[in-house]
Amino acid sequence: MGKAAPAFQRLGGLKDVATFQAYLRDNGIDLPCDQQLLTGANSPLLQPVMVDGLTVGNRIAIHPMEGWDGTPDGRPTEATVRRWRRFGASGAKLIWGGEAVAVRHDGRANPNQLCIGPTSGEDLARLREVLIEEHLRTTGSAEGLVIGLQLTHSGRYSQPNVKGRPEPRVAYRHPILDQRVGVDSDAAVLSDGEIRKLIEDYHAAAKVAADAGFDFVDIKHCHGYLGHELLSAHTRGGDYGGTLKNRTRFLREITEGIRSVAPRLKIGVRLSVFDTVPFRPDPARSSPGRPGPGVPEPYEHLLPYRWGFGVNPQNPEEPDLTEAFELMRELEVLRIGLINLTAGSPYYNPHVQRPAYYPPSDGYQPPEDPLVGVARHVSAGRELRAKFERNVFVGTGYSYLQEFLPNVAQAAVREQWVDCVGLGRVVLTYPEVLWDAAHGRPQQTKKLCRTFSDCTTAPRNGLPSGCYPLDEYYKNSELHDRLKAAKAARRTT
Ligand SMILES: Cc1cc2nc3c(=O)[nH]c(=O)nc-3n(C[C@H](O)[C@H](O)[C@H](O)COP(=O)(O)O)c2cc1C
Ligand code: SF4
Repeated sequence: MGKAAPAFQRLGGLKDVATFQAYLRDNGIDLPCDQQLLTGANSPLLQPVMVDGLTVGNRIAIHPMEGWDGTPDGRPTEATVRRWRRFGASGAKLIWGGEAVAVRHDGRANPNQLCIGPTSGEDLARLREVLIEEHLRTTGSAEGLVIGLQLTHSGRYSQPNVKGRPEPRVAYRHPILDQRVGVDSDAAVLSDGEIRKLIEDYHAAAKVAADAGFDFVDIKHCHGYLGHELLSAHTRGGDYGGTLKNRTRFLREITEGIRSVAPRLKIGVRLSVFDTVPFRPDPARSSPGRPGPGVPEPYEHLLPYRWGFGVNPQNPEEPDLTEAFELMRELEVLRIGLINLTAGSPYYNPHVQRPAYYPPSDGYQPPEDPLVGVARHVSAGRELRAKFERNVFVGTGYSYLQEFLPNVAQAAVREQWVDCVGLGRVVLTYPEVLWDAAHGRPQQTKKLCRTFSDCTTAPRNGLPSGCYPLDEYYKNSELHDRLKAAKAARRTT
């Protein structure tokens, strides 16, 4: 990929599962990993699980994966439809959200993000139908297939009108992130009244999703977008900031309204359960076009740190799940049992959110072995899973595991560290990776995601997302040349 290689072991270079297990042991990385894959009725990955009156037919989940490829008025294109087909082809029985859909125009993360409105029902129903069609082709039955839609407002990362022109709406002023998105006055801070209006937009969006046949909606609370930012609104006054009760009011009021407009619709939450301070490339080890390893932004003058959820205020590089446990209790009261655990943000600490060997163009070289990042995800899930047994927890961060993904996924489910294993990037290249493993089919190694990060780099350069290195659809298109040109231009600046 023409990128400087970091100094960590490439997983493709480990010859077998035993070598991988030894590598984990030697490096003190706590990940479960089964030597033998079980298949068919014996596979832990193919066992059903019940939650909230729903039966999810197996333990394979597909994470929401947006493509920056909708029309300017927020409708799906053929590229969107193709992606949803691939979600279906995975054999996963839990489709977590499809992709982030903005509940209104000003909350779109890019001018090509899907946007839901009163007339979106038909488009959404079609996405759902094509997904089911492919699912049937792979599995032969739609029994136990549970499909959700992820609803969002992009908040600080809103960019609804022009690519590259941020139009942030934030929960509070942030001492590090404001300057990255051009917030220089309180005008960008949403008032309580504006938040109340936005909550009504979520209610309306959920009703459209219910009418289009979705089983649940995900009230997105992750990755630095508005729902997630409100969870850390310690410094905000009014009804939506300060105490945890206030910081979760947004979620509560959305949930209450959905229960009344769409009583049969289930609700899930995708949550960045821990975070860390924003990272940047180490200036001392970067050169033009070649970002150095990630280092945290200086924060010593900001202690105790009050701008994160799930961080230790005295050492904000360290996860602290105390409030996550409180939030889980609140979700129990709200009768929300479907929880997708993720962490951090792709904008300000991508190594936490999606561990990768190669950084995206606006990122930095990995500051740690990406396996450490995977283990951090898995360990947080394990802690929550042990305390809240009635929930169904979906785990994140597995794509980095490559050849060993099925072995770790099987062990994590078997040991009850997690209920369902979510697939993100790998679904763009090899949607059936776990389905194949659980049916004793040989792994198609050439299709494994190698975490080249082009699916993140492309949208950062105004192009649709997709797997440019491995998926013929993008590899052979003129988009590939445009991505190469954009990367070359960055290297020379
Ligand atoms: C191209 C791309 C698009 C994504 N879109 C979404 C999204 O719409 N909603 C969301 O919650 N996460 C999104 N994510 C994050 C993934 O769902 C997932 O958390 C992340 O890729 C880590 O999982 P993995 O290691 O399996 O890739 C996206 C990630 C990528 C790379
Ligand atoms: S571009 Fe392809 S190989 Fe690279 S991270 Fe994305 S899905 Fe994986």
